[in-house]
Amino acid sequence: MTKQDLFKQKAARAALDYIKDGMIVGLGTGSTVSYLLDYISEKELDITGVTTSKDTSRKCRTLGIRVVDIDMVDHIDVTIDGADEVDAYMNGIKGGGAALLMEKIVAKNSKTNIWIVDETKVHSVLGSFPLPIEIISYGSGKLIQNFEEKGYHPVLRLDNAGNPVVTDTGHNIIDLNLHYIDNPQELAEYLESQVGVVEHGLFINIADVVIIGGEKIIIKNK
Ligand code: 5RP
Repeated sequence: MTKQDLFKQKAARAALDYIKDGMIVGLGTGSTVSYLLDYISEKELDITGVTTSKDTSRKCRTLGIRVVDIDMVDHIDVTIDGADEVDAYMNGIKGGGAALLMEKIVAKNSKTNIWIVDETKVHSVLGSFPLPIEIISYGSGKLIQNFEEKGYHPVLRLDNAGNPVVTDTGHNIIDLNLHYIDNPQELAEYLESQVGVVEHGLFINIADVVIIGGEKIIIKNK
């Protein structure tokens, strides 16, 4: 096991303190959340999960964690998710696992959002991680051209067979190679104004708590 995996595990285990029996819990996507699901199952926590991807739903089924559709619940107590990058203001980039749309819907409908990350994900400014943009396939070439003209270095994400990745909600992903996002809010507004963009992976003002796994656990609160 790599040190990074060990740190992901530490962050995931620390998140258990925020989950109580009877809660409705939003369950994110990715390897860090996968560890969390193992711990929820080991501890036999009696929760109802609202998942953010088919992968997470599948793993819940395997572990016997109850899952309901988001429209079947009137609230979500807490959502625990990973992130690809987190900045000093607790804003983040998500979507490395192509689940950003469902993740954002679940996050926006949660009372509290907690991110679990290993320390390599934390940077003072966002942009080292390519920014995922979920798009509809029609006209994707035009969007790519627009992003190229803006100097965003867009790349259509492909699967192992060389086909465009299709998300759980039937869209494609363009990754923007920005390296340094000096104004995430301004970029978010620009992306939201583009026809064909379904959602972007900038998660601004969403996390209430960030649990950072390293040699020591650091917990940042909003
Ligand atoms: C999926 C995500 C994940 O939360 C993100 O990619 C982190 O994944 P991991 O825990 O495997 O590092 O945004 O769309």
